[in-house]
Amino acid sequence: MNAATSSPLLRVSGLTVGLPVAGALRTVLRDVSFDLEAGRTLGLVGESGSGKSMTVRTISRLLPEGADVTGTVRFDGRDVFDLRGDALRAYRGSDVAMIFQDARAYTNPVRRIGDFLTEAMRTNDRMTQAAAEKRATAILAEVGIGDPERRMRQYPHELSGGLLQRVMIASAVAARPRLILADEPTTALDVTTQAEVMAILGRMQHEYGMALLFITHDLELAGATCDETIVLYAGQVMERQPSTRLHRDPLHPYTAALVQARPDIERRIVRLPAIPGNPTTAYEAPDGCAFAPRCRFAEERCTHGVPPLLQVGTVGEARCVRTPELRGRMLQPEVVADDAESPARSDEEVVR
Ligand SMILES: Nc1ncnc2c1ncn2[C@@H]1O[C@H](COP(=O)(O)OP(=O)(O)OP(=O)(O)O)[C@@H](O)[C@H]1O
Ligand SMILES: [Mg+2]
Repeated sequence: MNAATSSPLLRVSGLTVGLPVAGALRTVLRDVSFDLEAGRTLGLVGESGSGKSMTVRTISRLLPEGADVTGTVRFDGRDVFDLRGDALRAYRGSDVAMIFQDARAYTNPVRRIGDFLTEAMRTNDRMTQAAAEKRATAILAEVGIGDPERRMRQYPHELSGGLLQRVMIASAVAARPRLILADEPTTALDVTTQAEVMAILGRMQHEYGMALLFITHDLELAGATCDETIVLYAGQVMERQPSTRLHRDPLHPYTAALVQARPDIERRIVRLPAIPGNPTTAYEAPDGCAFAPRCRFAEERCTHGVPPLLQVGTVGEARCVRTPELRGRMLQPEVVADDAESPARSDEEVVR
């Protein structure tokens, strides 16, 4: 654990990324800043296209050719974009590890699980084949895979999605990285398998003191798994605060709308309040707050000048000029216009 005065394990500052499309640069991330301390878990949530994967790809230096990056990514105090040669290989090979949604796409169908697992150990750690196999077998057992010797000899198609994702976790933790970047690792799995995979990831993280940047579009899952959650919209951080608070005291109308749009087993309602309109991308975002065209609280002043990410209280941040006045009532149901005769109706109509 870093001392309070030293830098956090990961510090992303003012990160803006443009990608070349048809000869022009398209902004996909805009002024993204956050810290992640050693051993902690940070969730990154947002709708499709909000920039979650791009954030991970920037941190791991896996951006497409011609990408334009401003701002910095510091790992343990070092600027990741200054790393070259062996230092970059060490960063990618042993400091950070990645787990992706589609485990099958990251394995070679004609290579055995054992070869997949031992390859990095033999190249990065210069282990002998026998030592690497022994270690890989032990790690498979650690992630709860029964009969690991048999699994080592199998091909990816012989394993279920859940088992293959466990192999991915085994591969990621094998080098004892200090940071795991997990990009929707459970999205393709059924809920029971999802829970098992999350439990294993959590146990491994705890055991080895690794930090985890966990990407998901599932606000609940982030809430249940992460110390803090960041909400991204159109390539911008809209809110950051402890996950336990996000659902009951959202600081940004976008987060509040996401919370309300989720079905809740305790709250029986006729119709879920959908967020009007469609999500926008960073390069299509209008002037002003990117969420303003869909925001039920938007005012004229929200339509010009990008709002800054402001500290709220002692623990949170929000990119909304109305947070101080709206805080505490963003989750109240919107009252639908009524006539003089009938009582006011709200979207939160209790069935019984
Ligand atoms: N290679 C690329 N070239 C240009 N634009 C890209 C490229 N890859 C992604 N984008 C754009 O960058 C934006 C952010 O994409 P990103 O993949 O980070 O979204 P995401 O939040 O991970 O979404 P999802 O939930 O669908 O995975 C999107 O508008 C996407 O179209
Ligand atoms: Mg993605």
